[in-house]
Amino acid sequence: MKPIQVGLLGIGTVGSGTFEVLRRNQEEIKRRTGRGIEVTMVADLDVARAQSIVGMHAQVVNDARQVIANPEIDIVIELIGGYGIAKQLVLEAIAAGKHVVTANKALLAVHGTEIFAAAHAKGVMVAFEAAVAGGIPIIKALREGLTANRIQWVAGIINGTTNFILSEMRDKGLAFADVLKQAQALGYAEADPTFDIEGVDAAHKATIMSAIAFGVPVQFDKAYVEGITRLEAQDIKYAEQLGYRIKLLGISKRTAAGIELRVHPCLVPTKRLIANVEGAMNAVMVQADAVGTTLYYGKGAGSEPTASAVIADLVDIARLHTADPHHRVPHLAFQPDAMSTLAILAMDQVVTSYYLRLRVADEAGVLAKVTGILATAGISIDAVLQREAGEGENQTDLIILTHDCQEAKMNQALAEMQQLSTVLAPITRIRKEELN
Ligand code: HSE
Repeated sequence: MKPIQVGLLGIGTVGSGTFEVLRRNQEEIKRRTGRGIEVTMVADLDVARAQSIVGMHAQVVNDARQVIANPEIDIVIELIGGYGIAKQLVLEAIAAGKHVVTANKALLAVHGTEIFAAAHAKGVMVAFEAAVAGGIPIIKALREGLTANRIQWVAGIINGTTNFILSEMRDKGLAFADVLKQAQALGYAEADPTFDIEGVDAAHKATIMSAIAFGVPVQFDKAYVEGITRLEAQDIKYAEQLGYRIKLLGISKRTAAGIELRVHPCLVPTKRLIANVEGAMNAVMVQADAVGTTLYYGKGAGSEPTASAVIADLVDIARLHTADPHHRVPHLAFQPDAMSTLAILAMDQVVTSYYLRLRVADEAGVLAKVTGILATAGISIDAVLQREAGEGENQTDLIILTHDCQEAKMNQALAEMQQLSTVLAPITRIRKEELN
């Protein structure tokens, strides 16, 4: 059978990995697919660089629309990134009847509804395994492997840059800014690292996972997003003493009231496997009713790990593109006419547990006042740790772990505690998930 022809838009880190892995493993891939997969056309603004990567194997152009207009091209891979030109090109490719493979999590998290609707109307596939957790086949797992289940929650370390920063800060006691520079040098960080450290990249990925897990539309605008820039080394140490590691988690839970969709730093018990995911590695835990808890671990970024996901999508499309569109796997796992209208909950409706650090005057009655406020709010305390005040010191740190309560109640209690004259600095609040 004639090889399926692929056009590549953007040949940077992931594009060159895709080209290389397809070339190196072409026989193995062909044995699986039943036909060859060939990148025959590449569009990149840096034509000379692109040509040096693909040699004589593909035609290189500097205009992506030439790829989309080529009737020989069956699949367009979009690796440009961002919401701007990438969105236009994806919609144009769909309109031209091309299947699309993309690693663009930002685009799908924000404009997925429009893109999937266009693809559905045109009868083409938009595949995006590479958009979440790089080489880990988490989209395939959520959408197909767990299809028998009612999924209850998904919680993942889905940003390698921040996990690398948190690991290095904990292991080596390094400062946040120094580790960020290393992460950029190693190529983990986004072009604009704000997206990594402020939790936006993880929220894009959590939004996509939430949609597939629960059959709700992608709703990035409803996600609660908090990054790691305000985390202090002392909280990493106190958490450790209490048997927890701090991770930036992307969490989506189904509750009776609605769907939780949030990204924030989180204490996780050190005994959980996911707490021991270090460096730039990613991991996603899924809790589902039939299978129980499953954990998916691997490289969440990088040239060939992400290429692995892109090529898996190419193989899926090569296998399915002649199938009746109604018999393909739906983009968001659920049939488009069977999507849930369950609302994404506002953060103050979320129920979770907390780590609080209070800088307090070291005097009689302070603990009683603080715990009194929590008791009045109906917030149950799980553990208390008080650092011994140093010689001549008249203030100290009070660490409190709570049981689950609604965020709104905690906000109210925090506001009251902050008013106490014996609380000497802004209170640090970090959420905690037991993941059991
Ligand atoms: N900047 C991302 C990360 C790359 O650090 O995980 C993969 O999406």
